Amino acid sequence: MTKSAPPTRRGFIAAAALSPLIATEAAAQLRADEPSDLSFPKGFRWGTATSAYQVEGATNVDGRGPSIWDTFCREPGRIRDGSNGDVSVDHYHRYKEDVALMKSLGAKTYRFSIAWPRVFPAGRGKLNPDGLAFYDRLVDELLANGIEPFATLYHWDLPQALQDKGGWERRDTALDFADYAGAVAAKLSDRVNNFFTLNEMLSFVEHGYGIGIFAPGLKLPPGRLAQARHHAVLAHGLGVQAIRARGRAGTKVGPAENLTVALPAFEIPAHVQAAELATRELNAAYLTVMMEGRYTDAYLAGLGADAPKFGDGDLKIIASPVDFVGINVYAPGPYVLSSEAAPGYEVLKWPKSYPHMASTWLRLAPEVLYWAPRHVARLWKPKDIYISENGTSSKDKLDKDGRVYDLDRLMYLRNCLTQLHRATQEGVPVRGYFLWSLLDNFEWADGYATRFGLIHVDYATQKRRPKLSAAFYKEVIARNAPA
Ligand code: FCB
Repeated sequence: MTKSAPPTRRGFIAAAALSPLIATEAAAQLRADEPSDLSFPKGFRWGTATSAYQVEGATNVDGRGPSIWDTFCREPGRIRDGSNGDVSVDHYHRYKEDVALMKSLGAKTYRFSIAWPRVFPAGRGKLNPDGLAFYDRLVDELLANGIEPFATLYHWDLPQALQDKGGWERRDTALDFADYAGAVAAKLSDRVNNFFTLNEMLSFVEHGYGIGIFAPGLKLPPGRLAQARHHAVLAHGLGVQAIRARGRAGTKVGPAENLTVALPAFEIPAHVQAAELATRELNAAYLTVMMEGRYTDAYLAGLGADAPKFGDGDLKIIASPVDFVGINVYAPGPYVLSSEAAPGYEVLKWPKSYPHMASTWLRLAPEVLYWAPRHVARLWKPKDIYISENGTSSKDKLDKDGRVYDLDRLMYLRNCLTQLHRATQEGVPVRGYFLWSLLDNFEWADGYATRFGLIHVDYATQKRRPKLSAAFYKEVIARNAPA
């Protein structure tokens, strides 16, 4: 474009992005002139996600018992900035303001988690009605604002009392989880239609019991670790059964797992098939056994004498039929090529210069939002799939003008959604998407410096300020398409 040329539509929109008013006009003009071909299926459920320990704060009120994260955060050196979830963003007291923020985005759904130690302060035994009452209030507030609640039963905050008995190394923890899940379903399923069982078994088992960077900070040898994995998937299966037994008829339930997603290095049928094969194998201990009711031969052979010990009925329980599969999708697993040699795929090394988002683990590969649901659909044919989390960290700074220019987050989301659109276009049954996260919050071992929210939180004052990405997501929801 020469200097004297009239501003192009592109130039106009770029400038307009800074003014919400003009941006809306521009979007309307775009809508009128160029009907988007990136529309998601009608009724697609757009939402945001959080978890109890990360946002609620109020760890000492209404009879809540301690969780393993309370303990872990107090151990020196565990959390990067030495922080904890005691106050966090005080969602426990500010949930009405936060629901209003969701409403202002136009969000249709909200995925939150229930804190087990609020409901059963010692993990089992006597239910604490005051703790459960918070979720009553939250659910009612959501429904009053036209937002559908999706509740996660376990987002890593195991009651400390159960860890003291052995945590996920103990088989009975799976039974305790089922009792807790059933009790919550009995109370909330008159208003909550959808429950996720456990969030990211892969993360909390491998990080918490394998490499020790998450609570409870253990580094178990292979046999004990494999047994803890088994108890986690068993808890999922027992939880599904308990919700069916005690929830209102028609209550839907499924996992929220961060499967490892192998990607074809490039898209030819042989590599695509190899990526699918690799995805099945790489998730042998989690989603694969949950969907197929058996551990793969390669998984068991790899463990040898360290393979998990279990009785006949376990695999059937673990594979209890689910209503949907929730997948948390952020970063790619390995890129693969097909191979003549066993196991049929070759895992490629990462070049040093491969780009990542603000978190080093968050390698950038938006096509993982296409391949993840597609692999799941082809491998296991679930009726419904949800993207139960997707989003990115950014080194968000509140600008002098009071804004947060998180253009890297917009770039990430836009590309991920475009790839997800391809999946829906091809008939992969993705029904909804939960953006992580509504608010900046306590990012586990990274503490508060790593921000994932659409809404910036000033941790000193608790002031919430929508970032540029909030305006972007609002537009996505309104258009039902990437913006
Ligand atoms: C996922 C977790 C979630 C949050 C995001 C960034 O692994 O489920 O709690 O920490 O990562």
